[in-house]
Amino acid sequence: MSTGNDTRETWSTRLGFILAAVGSAVGLGNIWRFPFQVGQEGGAAFIVVYLAFVLVIGFPAMMVEFVVGRKTGLNTVGAIREFAGGAWTYLGSLFVFIGFVILAYYSVVGGWVLRYVLGSVTGGYVGTTGPEEAPVAQQYFGEIATGLDALAFHALFMLLVVVIVALGVKRGIELGVKIMVPAIALIFGVLAVYAFTLPGAAEAYSYYLSPDLDYLLANWQSIVPAAAGQGFFTLSLGMGVMITYASYLSEDENLGIDGATIVGFNTGISILTGLVVFPILFSAGVDPGEGGAGAIFVSVAQALGDIQFGWLLGVLFFGTVAIAALSSAISLIEVIVSYAIDELGVTRRRATVLIGSGIFLLGVPVTVDTDMVTLYDIFAAKILLVVGGILLVVLVAWRHADDAIAELGKGIDSFAGIDRVWLWTVRVPVLVVLVVSLALGILEFVS
Ligand code: PHE
Ligand code: NA
Repeated sequence: MSTGNDTRETWSTRLGFILAAVGSAVGLGNIWRFPFQVGQEGGAAFIVVYLAFVLVIGFPAMMVEFVVGRKTGLNTVGAIREFAGGAWTYLGSLFVFIGFVILAYYSVVGGWVLRYVLGSVTGGYVGTTGPEEAPVAQQYFGEIATGLDALAFHALFMLLVVVIVALGVKRGIELGVKIMVPAIALIFGVLAVYAFTLPGAAEAYSYYLSPDLDYLLANWQSIVPAAAGQGFFTLSLGMGVMITYASYLSEDENLGIDGATIVGFNTGISILTGLVVFPILFSAGVDPGEGGAGAIFVSVAQALGDIQFGWLLGVLFFGTVAIAALSSAISLIEVIVSYAIDELGVTRRRATVLIGSGIFLLGVPVTVDTDMVTLYDIFAAKILLVVGGILLVVLVAWRHADDAIAELGKGIDSFAGIDRVWLWTVRVPVLVVLVVSLALGILEFVS
């Protein structure tokens, strides 16, 4: 997309906006982070809370960002200033800061994905593993997740992001996403069918799909902030990405339908990812709670080693995941870049290179130890994004409710009071749950 001194584009088509927003939403959050959170928080008990969170909190919170973006038609920082002014302008700066933190470690994980594309080609992990040989795939992940490998591929990932964003290739992004979503569905579908045939499938499905209520009640203090963090992270909420994207929308767009489409695709891909990962982990005798940040890499590598032409499927799989990660990373850096162009008067090229370098440096400590991924990740998802979400809700639903209601109504024919339902959902339950999640998230982070 183009911002700054160029004349401002709107999405060429409605599909263009949806594709870009889906491109931002679908990413490592679905494929890497989701299974890892499910594993850590006890399986289906987490899924139930997470799905409720996405529907009752994530979706209305997405509308909050859409409203600000479309009303102002500006980059995130400018949008907040125009919408609210005064001290609220600092909220835009917070978004820029969040972008730096998230992209720093997102890029390290994106680097792992690129490393696995190469590993598939060279046969690094394929052929040496089978469902019964968990240690081999685990060892491979251990070798590439930190150190020089991780650093080099983190650099490569950021380089790709910088080149794409510096060239401002909106069309390229749209095309990438058009290919990516069906490709992910197809490849993950194939892998899910394979996973279904494994000996551990039955056990995995019950772990993944039938919630243990006692577990939920005993562990809600850790499940709730995890669901909040995952909900915001996966939907790209809480840092203004969706403000930026909606700023390109026209007024005859039904924001609710667009939002539902984006949430639907994003949720479907997460659920499908779990149907691939957990049968494989269970069949390999890996405790899903122990899989940690490597769960998806270890499990898929094992499966690929066990399949005919696994290396080829591996290239396709990790290649598609790389596209998903890149389109999300682009949306993250675009928040910062468009701010630098519009507010600091820097050229797109210079802004992108400088910001990309800064993010690269911020990610370097993450390549030293995988515990650093967890540290950055908890701070970003469970604290920063939730803070961003809370402040946006207060701003839009409490301070500027009339503007928000009016904006939401554009492009929607029969409203039947849904706007009021939305307003009061966001005003009270959403806000309360977010504040509780934040408090629990802070407790977790400091302990
Ligand atoms: N939603 C993206 C994903 O799931 C990550 C992201 C978070 C992107 C926040 C933008 C803003 O991978
Ligand atoms: Na996502």
